[in-house]
Amino acid sequence: MKNTVIVGAQWGDEGKGKITDYLAENADIVARYGGGSNAGHTVVIGNNTFKLHLIPSGILHSGKICILGGGMVIDLELLLQEMDNLEKKGVSTGNLRISSNAHLILPYHRVIDKIQEERRGSAKIGTTGQGIGPAYVDKVARSGIRVIDVFDEEVFDKKLRFNFEDKNLLIKDSGLILEKIKSSVIKYAERIKPLVCDTSLLIKEAMDKGAKVIMEGAQGTLLDLDFGTYPFVTSSNSTAGGACTGLGIPPQKIEEVMGITKAYTTRVGTGPFPTELSDSTGEKIRQVGAEYGTTTGRQRRCGWLDLVIIKYSVRINGITGFALMKLDVLTGIEKLNLCTSYEYNGSQINYHAARIGFCHSERSEESQPEILRDAQDDCGAFDRKIKEFPQSLRILEECTPRYEEMDGWQENISEVKSFSLLLPAARKYITAIEDFTKVPVKIISVGPERNQTIVR
Ligand code: IMP
Ligand code: MG
Repeated sequence: MKNTVIVGAQWGDEGKGKITDYLAENADIVARYGGGSNAGHTVVIGNNTFKLHLIPSGILHSGKICILGGGMVIDLELLLQEMDNLEKKGVSTGNLRISSNAHLILPYHRVIDKIQEERRGSAKIGTTGQGIGPAYVDKVARSGIRVIDVFDEEVFDKKLRFNFEDKNLLIKDSGLILEKIKSSVIKYAERIKPLVCDTSLLIKEAMDKGAKVIMEGAQGTLLDLDFGTYPFVTSSNSTAGGACTGLGIPPQKIEEVMGITKAYTTRVGTGPFPTELSDSTGEKIRQVGAEYGTTTGRQRRCGWLDLVIIKYSVRINGITGFALMKLDVLTGIEKLNLCTSYEYNGSQINYHAARIGFCHSERSEESQPEILRDAQDDCGAFDRKIKEFPQSLRILEECTPRYEEMDGWQENISEVKSFSLLLPAARKYITAIEDFTKVPVKIISVGPERNQTIVR
């Protein structure tokens, strides 16, 4: 077991929960580094289905420390509900630890999330309504309230009052009462008190003694605040770099980055999605794959696997291996398409668009070392074929995916236990992904259960 970051390579919902649960067996600590209750991880163990939003799926193994990292935004009421639900099913939450510098989601963040979405009208992001964006706004504005603050009533009161006044214009009709929020948060805080600590220090001390850590991401690369399809993103860094800032772990301690990708693509919420299928194949994938949101119940948009996106994820996250999820869902589709490039159909193909969309950089007149000149040549060509994920959302919207067609397979693969026993067409599909990305597919999931997992 290596210290491993689990990162979503697409738009979230790739199956990080299942892989975290699977790998947790050999880890000592499982730590979430970002996001909040916008995440929804479904883990199936025997007859029990666990839906987790805040707590890492490692909690389902006894004896593992599970951490809610400082990069997270936490709604204490929801956290306590989730803990109670687990306890009811016989899962102990005594090994949970909560970073003292994680930020709190308070009732007014949800109110503001809703109001802002309404104001956005047709340009709405399609947030999960959990107050994520507004809580991170407060963090960046340096007025957020951290877990540690709640244990000092004077500090908590002062910060809460400041926020209430600050947001008064937006929340004045919400019926929220400051004193009520204050007393309930103090009550919740009393319960989590024994679990709160400096989780970065805890991880460091444990690592020094040889403990192995899984750093569990939420959402996916294309929902990352900086590298996703902005503004249709979440408000945190869901990419691998977020593991360092969200947990206080130095980069050189990360030994493996496991990229989780479905065998196709899904997205919830609005924003461009080049390989989206609005036909019966898309509907079939949605039905067979049960592609409905864990947090909101919304139906997920479905489409072919987009390798331009996956290659981009490899670059941004430094992915060292893939877990390919839900391969079984593609069974029965006669021909499968793998997107390997985009064609840009936009009218505004001028030099400027080319530079930002195709990454074509003008060669500097100044003398440069050879490696820099080569890098600039490699980062794009001045033509209509786009091989790299474009930075401009406008260009992405005007791209048509170019596919390589592959044969599908018709027989059930959900009981297959090894790569060599997979049907040849399924093996070819996997090999095509590896050839294109130059990254090995190390795990293949052929069903929701723990034992429906092929490890190579
Ligand atoms: P927010 O994170 O609630 O602000 O939502 C911002 C965008 O991220 C919306 O498109 C959501 O649908 C999407 N999103 C947030 N969390 C998840 C997730 O765990 N899975 C998939 N999409 C998510
Ligand atoms: Mg999810």
